[in-house]
Amino acid sequence: MLRSSAALVVGMLASGCGGSSIQSALHPASPASAKIAWLWWFLFGICSAVFLAVMGLMVAGLLRRPPGEPYTVPPNGTRFVVVGGILIPAVLLLTMLVASLQTTVALKVPANDLTIQVVGHQWWWEVRYPREGIATANEIEIPTGRTVRLELTSADVIHSFWVPRLNGKMDLVPGHTNTFWIAADRPGTYRGQCAEYCGLQHAHMSFYVVALPPEEYRAWVEARQRPHPPPANRELVRGRQVFTSGGCKTCHTVRGTDATGTVGPDLTHVGSRLTLGAGTLPNTAGTLRGWIEGSQSAKPGNRMPRTYLSPDDLHALAAYLQTLD
Ligand code: CUA
Repeated sequence: MLRSSAALVVGMLASGCGGSSIQSALHPASPASAKIAWLWWFLFGICSAVFLAVMGLMVAGLLRRPPGEPYTVPPNGTRFVVVGGILIPAVLLLTMLVASLQTTVALKVPANDLTIQVVGHQWWWEVRYPREGIATANEIEIPTGRTVRLELTSADVIHSFWVPRLNGKMDLVPGHTNTFWIAADRPGTYRGQCAEYCGLQHAHMSFYVVALPPEEYRAWVEARQRPHPPPANRELVRGRQVFTSGGCKTCHTVRGTDATGTVGPDLTHVGSRLTLGAGTLPNTAGTLRGWIEGSQSAKPGNRMPRTYLSPDDLHALAAYLQTLD
């Protein structure tokens, strides 16, 4: 418990505060979030001006009438109320409504040629590239400078897809596909988070969008399409055997082996992922072993049961999974 708690803290430090991983809609990195940030500042500006004006008038009112003097309606009082209390608020509210509607229209899904399917699960993200024939989890690699169409749905309850620096939120609804899009202006790692309460581990349902320059993205796809080489030594052979002969394959897929489970994340390239447990832990040899042995300590309630492996089998299994990059 202590070890997994320590690993958890390390994970939070590693994933939470990095410069490029901040989850702020006010640090836009895409055309969509730039529009949202502009709207935010516009609304903030109007609301701040109104707040200051109202507070100013209140202070002026308090100072103007000496204590003890009876209240009298000032000349032009009615006109002031009509202009200041009805006309100006109506114009401001209308302006804010028009700006909001304009932004909503400007955020509609643009034409594009790259589609990625994302399925929400309690509590992780299944990611499929249908045309490329590859699958991953809790991480979405995209090329920079291109709009990426997302098809969002859920396998269980309602989740919400949110990468604040790349676009607004969109729900993942069971039995229904919502179309959405993201784009990244420049390479980087952008943290996303489930934004709809979806159960015990809702807070541990994060993910990363990794934006790569187009040529690096192409290389990433090609590398994911190539089959893995056979295990290079006896420990890795043993690790693969533990994986395919034990319970792992009931829930997980590793392409090229007879493990074809679909309950849990596809592990074909688990070795190259940034995190384990949908952003719960950084992905290292130690945390991987800890996760296999006791994922219920790090993320109570997740679907992965406790495994009972000998230390040698556990080491071999984690070593094998780490080679799957
Ligand atoms: Cu999924 Cu909250």
